[in-house]
Amino acid sequence: DRILGIICAMEEELEPLMDGFDMNRTVTKAGMEFLHGYLNGLESVLVVSGIGKVNAAICTQILIDDFKVSHVINVGVAGGIGKDIAPLDVVIATSLIQHDFDVTPLGYAKGVIPRLEDSVFKCDEHLSVLAFESATCCGDHKTHKGVIVTGDQFMSDSEKIRELERTFGAAACEMEGAAVAQACSLNNVPFSVVRSISDNANTGAGMDYEKFKPHAVRNSANIILKMAAAL
Ligand code: ADE
Repeated sequence: DRILGIICAMEEELEPLMDGFDMNRTVTKAGMEFLHGYLNGLESVLVVSGIGKVNAAICTQILIDDFKVSHVINVGVAGGIGKDIAPLDVVIATSLIQHDFDVTPLGYAKGVIPRLEDSVFKCDEHLSVLAFESATCCGDHKTHKGVIVTGDQFMSDSEKIRELERTFGAAACEMEGAAVAQACSLNNVPFSVVRSISDNANTGAGMDYEKFKPHAVRNSANIILKMAAAL
């Protein structure tokens, strides 16, 4: 009855999870390899979706339709927003918004998807509490809760980042979370998004990203392994 779906955008983000994963079969669909097995004893399907909202949405729907997952967690790295948030900190999403969705010429606020009941996708309370507890119990990183914004853009401009903070109250930016969140919401599947900060989404973002990514992916994977053991 309980089957966890775990989506990473990139191979590097999934790799550190494999330590705790006992795999029994793989299925390829839409060019994505779905790994079925047990993560710390919990029946799970792990998958690398590829980067961006379209990949993430397709991947989520396949997890729900073909693998009947009961919960979805999106895990990986993100750009930190605001002066409190530094590389290697962890951000647990409270809700997610697509920051690049823009129908403002028709009178809608930034990020609003017309004709959808709500464009702010709220994370599952139980999963988020578990994520926060799993993140704060161990390791020496800081853990934050906040809004994560998603767009098909790698952010590397302090002015644009300040705008995301002002407009959405964002704590972090990445490229898949809100798409996973929308797909889960439309299907009434509980989800949570756990991200470790790889850069500050400013002018040095590209360099910081390469530098911190190997450590950041380990941080977030450790949290997921703890969550799986507790679910
Ligand atoms: N993922 C990690 N860093 C990012 C950034 N600066 N923008 C978008 N996605 C990211």
